[in-house]
Amino acid sequence: MNEKTIESILKENRSFAPTQNFVKKAKLKESDFQDLRIKAEENYEEYWADLARNNIHWFKDFTETLDSSNAPNYEWFTDGELNVSYNCLDVHASIMPNKKAIIFESEDGELKTFTYKDLLEEVSAFSNGLLKLGVQPMDRVIIYMPMVPEAIIAMQACARIGAVHSVVFGGFSANALRDRINDAGAKIVITADGAYRGGKIIPLKDSTDTALEQDCECIEHVVVLKRTNESIAMDEKRDIWWDRLIHGESKHCDAVSLPSEHPLFILYTSGSTGKPKGIQHSAGGYILHAKLTNQWVFDLKDNDVFWCTADVGWITGHSYVAYGPLAAGATIMIYEGAPTYPHGGRFWEICQKHKVTIFYTAPTAIRALMKLGDELPNAYDLSSIRLLGTVGEPINPEAWIWYHKTIGKEQCPIVDTWWQTETGGIMISPIPSETATKPGSCTIPLPGIFADIIDESGNPVTEAYQGGYLVIKKPWPSMLRTIWGDNDRYVETYWEKFNNEFYVAGDSAHRDKDGYFWILGRIDDVLNVSGHRLGTMEVESALVAHPEIAEAAVVGKPHEIKGEGIFAYVVPKGKRPLGDDAEKMTVILRNWVAEQVGPIAKPDEIRYSDNLPKTRSGKIMRRLLRSIARNEKITQDISTLEDESILEQLQGKD
Ligand code: WTA
Repeated sequence: MNEKTIESILKENRSFAPTQNFVKKAKLKESDFQDLRIKAEENYEEYWADLARNNIHWFKDFTETLDSSNAPNYEWFTDGELNVSYNCLDVHASIMPNKKAIIFESEDGELKTFTYKDLLEEVSAFSNGLLKLGVQPMDRVIIYMPMVPEAIIAMQACARIGAVHSVVFGGFSANALRDRINDAGAKIVITADGAYRGGKIIPLKDSTDTALEQDCECIEHVVVLKRTNESIAMDEKRDIWWDRLIHGESKHCDAVSLPSEHPLFILYTSGSTGKPKGIQHSAGGYILHAKLTNQWVFDLKDNDVFWCTADVGWITGHSYVAYGPLAAGATIMIYEGAPTYPHGGRFWEICQKHKVTIFYTAPTAIRALMKLGDELPNAYDLSSIRLLGTVGEPINPEAWIWYHKTIGKEQCPIVDTWWQTETGGIMISPIPSETATKPGSCTIPLPGIFADIIDESGNPVTEAYQGGYLVIKKPWPSMLRTIWGDNDRYVETYWEKFNNEFYVAGDSAHRDKDGYFWILGRIDDVLNVSGHRLGTMEVESALVAHPEIAEAAVVGKPHEIKGEGIFAYVVPKGKRPLGDDAEKMTVILRNWVAEQVGPIAKPDEIRYSDNLPKTRSGKIMRRLLRSIARNEKITQDISTLEDESILEQLQGKD
């Protein structure tokens, strides 16, 4: 987040109480939440145990709520048994089979709906297909799919039979896919012949083939959904069409009873090294929190149409598309394609057409849509919308107010939800019927979540507006369990800083005089580009993998739409390119990074120099590079700089 945003947030004093109309109609009242907060304070374990028993269908009840014997590897409801897919589908299909579970619209306007009964049958048939391929509990399955109902079906099917899925965002490259396949040791890839995006086709199967060309011995089969009818290569022994796989399969498949701690999925996210971390979540705790937060934060009611615009490739698409709302028996809207295709009003057209009542998106999308002007949203009837949400990055007050006025017509609460891939579900957020909101603040922790801000020595920061580390002081059910295959990294990244006492989120934050939380940004070398986490090291490794590049350093720079943009300093092996040559090189490198990681990692700007600024001990002076990228006055001490002459090159003056 840029300094200007921080500054404007610091000055933000406006407060918006829930409207009386909203409060009157809300499913859960303020007093319900007060009771929950009191109970969580009084008896933490009983609080979660009661919620787990009242909200989740257990095949076998648990006797122990929280097991801290291997802290910080906490376990929840350990001897309980359940099935997540059963909790999302069977429990609803048996009492309301004809309720719509999914409304799907594709970029080219194709519509499909699935009732809970349909979805259960499709998931069961696909589960049987996976079983036929020999998939067993604990086997890892990669899902590299477009944002279509089949992506959710594939996830639910894995959950049903106890396979551990790892969804890889369709915008990631073949290289990124290969790394994740290998790290997870996956047996199966589920993909499609292509995905539609912005009128173009993304060749998912081609990328899968490239990924599997070398060093992916673990993969036995590739299941391919026919989506775009592109002509693609099929390896007879390895590849099988989705339709072929389920042909003749029974539409019934028993959901297996699994221990609460059985891994539900692994989802890779960027950290401060070049290697993404496989965040591992478990069945019982995760689904409990995903369901509860859907009900609490979004005030879910029977007739809601809930549209979370996130792709299933990200955690938001797990917790608030594929799992949480289904566990809560909601109707979800999903859309495959770009928000502005074929016109800038596409999102609003969808809201009007399908009478969306709850709309949840990222600040980057809000800023991009705001830039297109008010005429677009004003041309559609958005009166069905009653609640708005945001996630993924701090929202600047200007975008918040636009969202509030132009989309919410000043009637809809906005829930600014802070959470992470690691937390599994929403942690700090307004409760729409209870909490007054302030533009730019995620307000206060949910009942049962003990968030705090602490200083370097581990003491709580009690002074208002004083920044510190955002931590969670008590384990919570949907917390990550470990980093797949690297528990040391888990302990080191999230716990060691404060002697394994608190979960360290990696964000800095402060509280205002009312105790509201304001997230200031990441404290590690992780960028937040359009709400997506990207490690600077990941982009740097991609750049130096290019044969002509010797060294690279990447920093974030405020970006009007993306929140944060990528600024790269590059040292070529040969002569430093100038003028046209530099421009040509930039095009080549941008495409190269897109190939190595994915288009989201493309640097916005690249500057060439003969060397990088380093201290005498050889450390890259990132703070200096950040200041230069932002055209700030250099205040850093550069006396330790080994080679002062490169300063002008870095500043683009030479
Ligand atoms: C940031 C996305 C401010 C934060 C669910 C966090 C936010 C990272 C907010 C996690 C918010 C998420 N306000 N910042 N409401 N929500 N963030 O893992 O830096 O993709 O650590 O999870 O996004 O990103 P992730």
